Amino acid sequence: MSPAACRPVHLRCEYFENPLGIDEPHPQLGWWLDSEHRRGARQTAYQIFVSSEPAGTPDLWDSGKVPSDASTHIVYAGRPLRSRQRVWWRVKVWDERGHPIESTESAWWEMGLLERSDWKAQWIGGTLTGGRWTSVPAPYLRRTFFVGARVAHARVYATALGVYEARLNGQRLGSMQLAPGWTDYRKRVAYQTFDITPLLVVGDNTLGAILGDGWYCGHVAWRGRQMYGDRPKLLAQIVIDYLDGRSEVIGTDSTWKFAYGPLLESDLLMGESYDARLEFPGWDRPGFEDRGWLPARSGNGNGVSLDALRAPPVRALHEFRARPLAAVPRRRNRTVFRYDFGQNLVGRVRLRVKGAAGTTITLRHAEMLEPDGRLYCANLRTARATDHYTLRGEASGEIFEPRFTFHGFRYLELEIDGADVTIEEVTGVALHSDLPLTGEFSCSDPLVNQLQRNIQWSQRGNFLAVPTDCPQRDERLGWTGDAQVFVRTAAFNMDVAGFLNHWLQSLADAQTAQGTIPAVVPATDDLHADGGPAWADAAAICPWTVYLSSGDRRVLERCFATGARYIDEVRATNPDFIRRKTAHGFEGYGDWLALDESNKTDGGTPKDLIGTAFFAESARLVAAMAEVLGKKSEAKTYAALANAVRRTFHRKFFTPDGSLTVPTQTACVLALQFDLAPAKLRSRVAACLVEDIERRGWRLSTGFIGTGYLPHVLAATGHLEVAYKLLLQKQCPSWLYPVTQGATTIWERWDGWTPERGFQDPGMNSFNHYAFGAIGAWLYAVVAGIEIDPGAPGYKHVRLQPQPGGGIASARARLASPHGEISSAWRTNPFRFDWEVTVPANTTAAARIPVPPNARMTECGKPFNRAPGVSRIARTKDSITCELAAGRYRITAEWTKKRAQNNNDSR
Ligand code: BGC
Repeated sequence: MSPAACRPVHLRCEYFENPLGIDEPHPQLGWWLDSEHRRGARQTAYQIFVSSEPAGTPDLWDSGKVPSDASTHIVYAGRPLRSRQRVWWRVKVWDERGHPIESTESAWWEMGLLERSDWKAQWIGGTLTGGRWTSVPAPYLRRTFFVGARVAHARVYATALGVYEARLNGQRLGSMQLAPGWTDYRKRVAYQTFDITPLLVVGDNTLGAILGDGWYCGHVAWRGRQMYGDRPKLLAQIVIDYLDGRSEVIGTDSTWKFAYGPLLESDLLMGESYDARLEFPGWDRPGFEDRGWLPARSGNGNGVSLDALRAPPVRALHEFRARPLAAVPRRRNRTVFRYDFGQNLVGRVRLRVKGAAGTTITLRHAEMLEPDGRLYCANLRTARATDHYTLRGEASGEIFEPRFTFHGFRYLELEIDGADVTIEEVTGVALHSDLPLTGEFSCSDPLVNQLQRNIQWSQRGNFLAVPTDCPQRDERLGWTGDAQVFVRTAAFNMDVAGFLNHWLQSLADAQTAQGTIPAVVPATDDLHADGGPAWADAAAICPWTVYLSSGDRRVLERCFATGARYIDEVRATNPDFIRRKTAHGFEGYGDWLALDESNKTDGGTPKDLIGTAFFAESARLVAAMAEVLGKKSEAKTYAALANAVRRTFHRKFFTPDGSLTVPTQTACVLALQFDLAPAKLRSRVAACLVEDIERRGWRLSTGFIGTGYLPHVLAATGHLEVAYKLLLQKQCPSWLYPVTQGATTIWERWDGWTPERGFQDPGMNSFNHYAFGAIGAWLYAVVAGIEIDPGAPGYKHVRLQPQPGGGIASARARLASPHGEISSAWRTNPFRFDWEVTVPANTTAAARIPVPPNARMTECGKPFNRAPGVSRIARTKDSITCELAAGRYRITAEWTKKRAQNNNDSR
């Protein structure tokens, strides 16, 4: 049998498999190579064929044979594509032996509406508006249209200012929830494309939509309703291509009709009220009597730009069965049940119930319980997080699941107002942006595994349309600082590139004329227009991290101008390079929620120190972006600026004898992580950091800013065991303390709840906040050892360098990288290290094996130095390094005590 070929699989266009309705005129294409782990499998050339017919000739683009090992982000360079055009593509690759092989998947993509003039629809909605604090029912909209001939294909293009659910002939279109998500609706809104070909019939058809307030006119944070507009609006158009070659467009306009029905209130923060007695069965099908419905109000969208959705939509993705908690005594006519879903999740509850018409069930949600078993709702602040369902009295039972709201909860209280109701099923439904899970990490310590699960659940719950701080209280905002500190971890856990590209567009939209970046994105008008240090720096840190983890240079092309303008503004406002204040006089949030001496929310690390550190780092990143983009002079300017700020940092924040002026843990961490301590002072700063940690009983005192970097700088400065001590610490404050308290997500505060003090300040005490979950990147990159080589982003060349410690006996991680699956799994005992690694086809890796240099090494039982794919073996004082070609390796290192001892002696 001939050795496995290198077949291109998992063909992607703009991060998606077969995307429907994109508006990128030059989409980027990519694939994995499946070589069944053949050693050294590599692509030496590719040829892409794009045709206007399935399996047709490449009439749109034949790239020709391109001698190249590139297999991601290849820019389509064929004939210009039209609106609504579907194209099919395949790719042929040549491997390192010159063998050609073609993809067998029939991949395609379809363009959306590229020109504004393609839209033949008006924005429509109902008439009720409510007010800043008063909600109104959700309008139902419908229109029946006639299909007079056989259809070749048909699409619906739709979006809302608000959130919507579209329905055709009684069926829901697509599985997306809370579409179109949240953008600054004054500037842009994303539209969705649905293939309705199989749903249409010859004769009458009905398109319907339900409109919720969403972020557009519902409550956002604590500021009340109607941030962007007074009532929700729909924009939709049906485009039918008939088999006879004719096309027809039916857009929303005032011929549509609307009515208010069962959905009495629907708000993201407050909840949903639904009276099933007010339903109008069949409203979304032809033949429904809509004489009582009113003509929809139509208007324009004030020039809002319409973009095809670039991010995966929100979907309902996981279900949890409820576990009933102890019965609550019945009071008069009210019955109360409480449930535990076993997971702090973000979404809503689906109920299956049977009972008398008119009975109302109230659903209250909470993340925690009070000591007496009641729901702890104080931390929700003004978010009511309460749904109401009034039964229509269906003998066979009825199902309620809210549509346009989400809650952050683990516990549920059902209050039944009436007599006989049978609760047949209570299911928790988790919603989040449907990002593919790319990372898995586990190790021999079950508490650390729970921590990893908690990090992933906090990411799910807070990656809902935009990256948010928390999903439960009246906040749920796209805090730039939180996104920035978590982005590296996020990019390990999930394929975040599309999601963050989309959000980074909102970040660019939010940049002020002066160049500042707000504290939250999409921006709200009552929060800082300049987020200040570490918040505004998301403008540099997020694109750079997305670039490193995806290898997508285009993210830098899109974000460079925003980053550069931002740094120019910081420089102009802080001419002496010490970043004291923002243009608006705001000093920044500091090391948010640090437990330093001052014990205030912003910790004890001086704000100008944090500001100057981030100024240097962002200037460096903007220089790096310029470098990648080939902007030589900008690269020089920003690199020089970064150096000048670095020198200033040293002058201002170090004493003449070489210590930090305020040596908080975060100050030490920033100086080390951002390379602000001159080389000769690094070990001293690290020692000072370790002393502080030890003085606190091996505990950290960092807040949002220092925490994510802390274990990295410890490992990088020779204090790996201290990092493990912090990781494994169970006393508060620590990562594992909440785990020991039964946490299933990451808490906002280290001490959100303690046995001594109970709950922290309810004014700010979320139990699902991912910022402190930034330790996740360390688990992947240091414990398991899968790290990016910045010189070859997107894991084209991987660094595989596990650093075991802390008595952990084994760890494994897997990462579905842009080139395929990377894995690292190790097991160790005092004289042996077993390591299984996978280097995907068409990539290479630099491995560092943490064993004594004289360890006896084998690979798949054979001498290591003769293992195929292993080259450049070198022995350093505490490891063996080598290069690995693509493939799967089973490496074993063994040594005797004496050998290890000799090794130590010889150092
Ligand atoms: C949010 C944060 C945010 C912070 C800014 C809080 O209310 O929950 O996570 O970064 O404010 O200081």
